[in-house]
Amino acid sequence: MSKVRDINLAPEGELKMEWAKRHMPVLNLIREEFKVEKPFKGITIGMALHLEAKTGILAETLMEGGAKIAITGCNPLSTQDDVAAACVKKGMNVYAWRGETNEEYYENLNKVLDYNPDIIIDDGADLIFLLHTQRRELLDNIMGGCEETTTGVIRLKAMAEEGSLKFPVINVNDAHTKYLFDNRYGTGQSAIDGILRTTNLLIAGKNVVVAGYGWCGRGVAMRASGMGASVIVTEVNPIRALEAKMDGFRVMKMEDAAKIGDIFITTTGCKDVINAGHMLIMKDGAILANAGHFDNEINKEDLLSISKDYKVVRFNIEEYDLGNKKLYLLGEGRLVNLACGDGHPCEVMDMSFANQALSAKYIRDNHENLENRVYSIPYEQDLRIASLKLKSMGVEIDELTLEQRKYLSDWREGT
Ligand code: ADE
Repeated sequence: MSKVRDINLAPEGELKMEWAKRHMPVLNLIREEFKVEKPFKGITIGMALHLEAKTGILAETLMEGGAKIAITGCNPLSTQDDVAAACVKKGMNVYAWRGETNEEYYENLNKVLDYNPDIIIDDGADLIFLLHTQRRELLDNIMGGCEETTTGVIRLKAMAEEGSLKFPVINVNDAHTKYLFDNRYGTGQSAIDGILRTTNLLIAGKNVVVAGYGWCGRGVAMRASGMGASVIVTEVNPIRALEAKMDGFRVMKMEDAAKIGDIFITTTGCKDVINAGHMLIMKDGAILANAGHFDNEINKEDLLSISKDYKVVRFNIEEYDLGNKKLYLLGEGRLVNLACGDGHPCEVMDMSFANQALSAKYIRDNHENLENRVYSIPYEQDLRIASLKLKSMGVEIDELTLEQRKYLSDWREGT
């Protein structure tokens, strides 16, 4: 049983998935191994991820490894209905459509949990949170989980610290082959891509304000700057602020940036980063976009409460009329790269999802010896994925000689 917008959209979704698969060589190698080994035979995997083409390929890879798949989205605006339909045709149990209400979103998470999964793959930790609050009767069956994103990892670490986490979770986000590429180059490109597709406006010559200088903010600032924007960074962490300054960006408080920004992009993982006070001093025509996991970085209630009127003026653009000026919100303040685009590029998700696939297998193999806490991915897994990616790109690198290894491991050698 599945519930999607329109099953007749499947052929389009299948084409999108075929395109994505072509550009995910590392995940394809893992798929070939899974096909032979069948590591997930008899195992049900419950997934809550942004349901677009690359995610479909991850789910298909796990299915080829013998898993039964129950999948939903992890954001009401990021599901691609054609891909969801294609996943049903491929034999998955799918509960997701673009534009779900909040209530439907939680109904769909619950539907996935109804399959009594053994392993969870989550993005943002909503599925794991639901298991620990309203579906605790299912906890005993869970071997463990894998978490995709910074925001989810922060929530899970908080759960583990207070002793509330009831199964081991692999922190996929902090793999080097994830955050250095997905968070930085992925968000850097896809957030700008979402904004450009939606607005059809020029970046060059604009003041682009990037809130947050974590790996996502770094990527967005770098790409906006490369396209000719004058980039302003806002931060609360002095080390990151200093780094942004020395990377060549203007750094200031949001209350100062608000007055001069043309485009605002939030990447902080925190709430109320742009509030009514900021909105009231913004320029006419300022554009607001969020690239963080949740839609609370730009305070939408504030925006509505100070507006006299609001209307949709273009697909994915809402115009808020404040009387003396108009502000524009993209993708309802939800993840702009997914609500207004196709998410991160395939080559980047190749590595992120290779980490997910191998982490799920790691859980299957090791769950009996793991504690109920958040684990880093094994470093060997990181190295393997980087090596496979380099190979797929035709890049060869040097190896240490025996003499060099000896030199590095013997502290007397330097003298
Ligand atoms: N596609 C699938 N999951 C994604 C994510 N977390 N970020 C961007 N694009 C994605």
